[in-house]
Amino acid sequence: MYHDGIREFYSPTHLIFGWGAAARTGIEAKRLGAKRVFVVTDQRVHGAGLSKGPIESLREAGIDIVLFADCEVDPAIATVEKALRLYLAEGCDVVVVIGGGSPICLGRAVALRATNRDKDLRGMEGMNLFGAPPMPTVLVTTTTGSGSEVSPVFIITDAERKVKMNIGGRGAQATVSILDPSLLKTLPSEQVLATGMDAITHSLESFLSNRDSLITDALAIGSLKTLWAHIGPAAFSVNNMESRGRMLVASIMSVQASGNARLGLVHAMSDQICAFHHVSHGISNALMLPTVMEYNLPAAPGKFVELAEATAESGDRRAKGPEAFLEAVDRLYRRLGLATRLPDAVEASSFDEWADRTVENPLFKTTIRQPAKAEIIELYRRAKTGWSYP
Ligand SMILES: [Fe+2]
Repeated sequence: MYHDGIREFYSPTHLIFGWGAAARTGIEAKRLGAKRVFVVTDQRVHGAGLSKGPIESLREAGIDIVLFADCEVDPAIATVEKALRLYLAEGCDVVVVIGGGSPICLGRAVALRATNRDKDLRGMEGMNLFGAPPMPTVLVTTTTGSGSEVSPVFIITDAERKVKMNIGGRGAQATVSILDPSLLKTLPSEQVLATGMDAITHSLESFLSNRDSLITDALAIGSLKTLWAHIGPAAFSVNNMESRGRMLVASIMSVQASGNARLGLVHAMSDQICAFHHVSHGISNALMLPTVMEYNLPAAPGKFVELAEATAESGDRRAKGPEAFLEAVDRLYRRLGLATRLPDAVEASSFDEWADRTVENPLFKTTIRQPAKAEIIELYRRAKTGWSYP
């Protein structure tokens, strides 16, 4: 692990978590010097009354509120600029977000644009291409962890170029993230399943990254154990708030791991399914995960033994070989009813272009076993036929 270079770990976001934690929103904003906060949310969250508690706590702290509740799914540049104009016209000093991944990305973009007024978002696309650090942010999440709560990057859609821009880098992380399971009550099962599979992929890919470290490995294995055990109860027993709460914290740990060790081939390959077939990010990952894990195994048998031990059925203390992890994947997918076969609409004729895109993806660089183009096409074919074990 330590023969191939120096590692860093940077995760500056102050995390506050537990039942009722959202009531701390006002106190935390005040600590950051807030007098007039810009509250970003969306109509679904606002309409369901989830923003009520955090907004009340801001009022109790004597803070003025400017509300922007018009965040769309996958916010576009134009929405950021519209929100920024309101932020500046109202003289706001802190951004508070109440919502899932989309409002969080919008709020973080407004906070970064507010301190970088001479640069537009396109000029900041990529890692570490912004100038000044963003305005302080307090994020109150209403999903089981989109990752944007602690991630160095956020995503804004460039509608003209039809691309999702990754923007951020060191110092672009949120100031405070509040994880309150009581806000997850209305979250639909499919969403818990999709974000949970994304989180499992983050744990696995950071553990199998060629930039892993003792710190990221500990976070990856710790989060994986929790996610594996609780994804089913959290998704299907809607009122199982204990499992939802644990998923919420574990998904953040998985992003602390992957934000530092980075990701790998599952993400690099699944982006194409997501972009061309409108399958959610989490489910696209789930479709590629078994095939890619099977491919990775020969490159890291020792690590697969650790994965097999972390995902063994409770009470099973028998010694594990590396393949036992693939058996565990098979069991998990059966238990959750997850597909291992790409949708019929995916044409094998796309795989040549998809393989080129996979190699160009920056996440391809950190994957533990790098396939040649022909192998990537073969992996897509395997997923198209449907992965099965053995
Ligand atoms: Fe992801």
